[in-house]
Amino acid sequence: MEKKKEPKRIISETEKYVRQAMENDGSGHDWWHIYRVRNLALKISKLEGGDPFLIEMAALLHDLDDWKLSSDGNFSRTKKWLEALKLPKETIFLLTEIISQVSYKGAGVETIPSSLEAQIVQDADRLDAIGAIGIARTFAYGGSKGRLIFDPEIKPVKHADFEAYKKNNGPTINHFYEKLLLLKDRLNTKTAGKLAENRHSFMEKYLEEFFREWFEIGAT
Ligand code: ADP
Ligand code: NI
Repeated sequence: MEKKKEPKRIISETEKYVRQAMENDGSGHDWWHIYRVRNLALKISKLEGGDPFLIEMAALLHDLDDWKLSSDGNFSRTKKWLEALKLPKETIFLLTEIISQVSYKGAGVETIPSSLEAQIVQDADRLDAIGAIGIARTFAYGGSKGRLIFDPEIKPVKHADFEAYKKNNGPTINHFYEKLLLLKDRLNTKTAGKLAENRHSFMEKYLEEFFREWFEIGAT
């Protein structure tokens, strides 16, 4: 019988697998996003608690089956990988549950995760969506989907349900009002709340300057 794998080995094999799978992503969901989310999640967990193995594994796998990156909505790639690692059924269940609770689903949709581990991974993912890095990722995503940077005639929408949020293809600046500026007040942990302050105010300054330049040249 095959020997049971050590947690360290499971994590390093998962890291290798995810790194390969997300290497060529140009939508802001590349390996370095995963790397930052993993490190942020572990940093938050040092102060807030939670099971570090579940947190690290969920952070590494959290975007492998993301709806934005062409998935079937059943977390099949994630489950297949966890089964290949021969993890116990309960662990596979816990990890898929955490991963399924991470994603943002629209301004009007409540997405408070049920476990501390999921709350921490969600916070880490959301911290990487804001600030200077968040701004870069958002324009990368918009560009990868062929979206305009800004169109003053298209107003932001506060999506009331996930279906409407998914269908949205507005200009990238709108995403700040539909998601990014709302995240600071939707974080689960105090530690993430503190880390969000600077990132949030940097986005506000960025938008102020964006519109100053836009209107300075007489655009409407
Ligand atoms: P989540 O699961 O919460 O959506 P992800 O890690 O999958 O988190 O990445 C979300 C990021 O993708 C956003 O913060 C943003 O950078 C980018 N993104 C998603 N939707 C849009 C959009 N409509 N316009 C611009 N960027 C977007
Ligand atoms: Ni993510």
